Amino acid sequence: MRIGCIGAGRIGGTIARLAVEHGYEVVLSNSRGPDTLRELVAELGARASAATVADAAAMSDLVVVTIPLKNYASVPAAPLVGKIVIDTNNYYPDRDGRIAALDDGSTTSSELLAAHLPDAKVVKAFNTIYFEDLATQGEPPGSPHRRALPIAGDDADAKRVVGAFIDELGFDVVDAGPLVAGRRFEPGTPPYNVRLDGAELRAALES
Ligand SMILES: NC(=O)c1ccc[n+]([C@@H]2O[C@H](COP(=O)([O-])OP(=O)(O)OC[C@H]3O[C@@H](n4cnc5c(N)ncnc54)[C@H](OP(=O)(O)O)[C@@H]3O)[C@@H](O)[C@H]2O)c1
Repeated sequence: MRIGCIGAGRIGGTIARLAVEHGYEVVLSNSRGPDTLRELVAELGARASAATVADAAAMSDLVVVTIPLKNYASVPAAPLVGKIVIDTNNYYPDRDGRIAALDDGSTTSSELLAAHLPDAKVVKAFNTIYFEDLATQGEPPGSPHRRALPIAGDDADAKRVVGAFIDELGFDVVDAGPLVAGRRFEPGTPPYNVRLDGAELRAALES
């Protein structure tokens, strides 16, 4: 399975590094073009490459969108038709500007991306963990109190694939429900940016 990253910053770069370490091929992309990713690609080694955003999306089986939320509408929909898309994005008004539909609670940040990518299977994941913790806190399955990460999405098969990927990268997974349930682990909620095991995360999602 090839992983595409739209965004190759702190979270995108960390997911790419972990994926390469676990034997995946990774195609990185950013807003400035593949030439600007040469150093990171060299550091990640032979399983990594860089491409334009559209090519990274088209070439990959699982695509991670990991950019400042304010830029979500620039993600190309056509190459993502039928694909599983992991959404790591969070809404930070200071960075992203005010988005009325998020401020009034009528939708969630992942549903915004899903509405923009109507034929993709969007799964919200990795948004609750600080990138340095993602890089360092992974443990083998079965480790006592292994950190768990929440996911949400409307497609059960897509959630299975994303869950297996997260497990491989070192974390338990708690399915919070449909994409709208992503609201329960956005910034400011109890599970956000806290190290919790599976039981603790389930309780935090319900609190
Ligand atoms: N940092 C964390 O620990 C963390 C944890 C969980 C979730 N998140 C969320 O995950 C997302 C990414 O965060 P980050 O900290 O990794 O951000 P970051 O370090 O600022 O990196 C952002 C990346 O997105 C690329 N990018 C920006 N606009 C783009 C566009 N229109 N098309 C393609 N690529 C674009 C940037 O490339 P250029 O430099 O070429 O523009 C850069 O590679 C954010 O929504 C953030 O809230 C962050």
